[in-house]
Amino acid sequence: MNDPSAEIAAAAAALRAGRLVGMPTETVYGLAANALDARAVLAIFAAKGRPSFDPLIVHVADAEQAWAVARPSARARLLAQQCWPGPLTLVLPRLPAIPDVVTSGLDTVGVRCPDHPLALALIRAAGLPLAAPSANRFGRISPTTAAHVREQLADAVAVVLDGGPCRIGIESTVLLPDPAPIILRPGGLTREALEAILGEPVAVADRAARDASLALPAPGLLASHYAPVIPLTLKDLGQPWPEGEGLAYLSWRGEGLPAGAGRLEILSQRGDLAEAAAGLFAAMRRLDACGARAMVAESVPNVALGLGINDRLRRAAGLG
Ligand code: TXA
Ligand code: MG
Repeated sequence: MNDPSAEIAAAAAALRAGRLVGMPTETVYGLAANALDARAVLAIFAAKGRPSFDPLIVHVADAEQAWAVARPSARARLLAQQCWPGPLTLVLPRLPAIPDVVTSGLDTVGVRCPDHPLALALIRAAGLPLAAPSANRFGRISPTTAAHVREQLADAVAVVLDGGPCRIGIESTVLLPDPAPIILRPGGLTREALEAILGEPVAVADRAARDASLALPAPGLLASHYAPVIPLTLKDLGQPWPEGEGLAYLSWRGEGLPAGAGRLEILSQRGDLAEAAAGLFAAMRRLDACGARAMVAESVPNVALGLGINDRLRRAAGLG
């Protein structure tokens, strides 16, 4: 089936029938289900092997659809108007339309409007808000191509819509806008951009604050995330690279690598954080599969998209 509108119609019908669909977005691919159907949403948790205490993001086609499931504040309205469609998830008080399973029983819900034509067409064709986590097995590397989704979840989905490689490459920024704006997960929209729009400082939550916002039963349970299969260690930018048998290297700009380091990926030779984010997960997957015994990654400058990239690298290293 190559006619995109026929493919979207088929995917929308599958969603209305309670099935799962692989959905491209500008950040990573999502594993989508009807957010209003508790049984369909349970199938997401089962397919991913995801613990039920980790809430899902609800994807909408516009702000109006968001305000049918979440109660906006003044900050939320401003951010939705300025940043959607785009890589920003707003955590807001939830309305009764959303079943408990989506929010893990929290009284808030994360909503976002993805900036991808196929995602928007799918949400509109289904006529439903879509709950969608990243379309990877729980704790593994997020997918940035349709092939990545099929590798891990082919059996679970009715269809994977192929929207090409994801433009941004790391997940959305998750923001709790009120009572004072705080980033719960750094991602595709920078803190700097949020501060410029809001005209006030935006905090970044540490691990403890993040866990508290989720009311996690066992704080720290989600530390290892976005992880390759082989062990990954992280070194600070500017520190020397370790040398040894069977190591693969994930480098920011390709500087200071051991002579003869064969298995290596350079995130951005020219030092462009957007390029680094776009290629991060695919590079981690290639190194994971290259036959190395372990991977060494280097942190990137901790500004703008670098916050999100470093967060993913730290979690891949099990550092939380
Ligand atoms: O870019 C993205 O956000 C991708 C694409 C598919 O949209 N989705 C994604 O979903 O990354 P997932 O499930 O992998 O990550 C959702 C994050 C988790 O860290 C979760 O804890 C947080 O959002 N989250 C969701 N609802 C929340 C809530 N009510 N309160 C606090 N955090 C929430
Ligand atoms: Mg995820």
